[in-house]
Amino acid sequence: MNGAAPLALKVNGATHVVCASADTPLLYLLRNDLALNGPKFGCGLGECGACTVLLDGMPTRACVTTAKVALGHEITTLEGLGTRAALHPVQQAFIDEQAAQCGYCLSGMIMTTKALLERDPHPSVETICRELSRNLCRCGTHVEIVRAVQRAAELLATQKPVQETADKEARA
Ligand code: FES
Ligand code: FES
Repeated sequence: MNGAAPLALKVNGATHVVCASADTPLLYLLRNDLALNGPKFGCGLGECGACTVLLDGMPTRACVTTAKVALGHEITTLEGLGTRAALHPVQQAFIDEQAAQCGYCLSGMIMTTKALLERDPHPSVETICRELSRNLCRCGTHVEIVRAVQRAAELLATQKPVQETADKEARA
């Protein structure tokens, strides 16, 4: 590969070294080198949001973000949220509300939702629609997706006091 060199990417809390050109799209490295297939290839042009990951908590289109831009940042993919046994509340909410048909857009929707709820734990419907407006769903599950975001906000609100109590007990 032209210009390939070892690149250390911080993904889901661990450092992974891949051998690639620094201009390689982050999405290719995540999917092809690290087998993280949560982020999807949709348009490849930064337009659909299927490839959305978090870069230091900010929703980022991995198809138009090069490896060199991602270096030094904390990258989070869908795989970094929860596990099958212990889903992240946002993942749980999307399942509870059955907010999917084909599911292709969901990873991007969930990552964008996670970032939104960290900034704004109780977003209005208008805010949810605005924040997710650049994540396209060709199946038209928008109504269920908005409900899932609202449910995720509720789940996070009920889990926060439990987590804070557990943290306090651990510190005591
Ligand atoms: S695949 Fe990245 S925005 Fe569409
Ligand atoms: S559920 Fe099919 S694209 Fe959104």
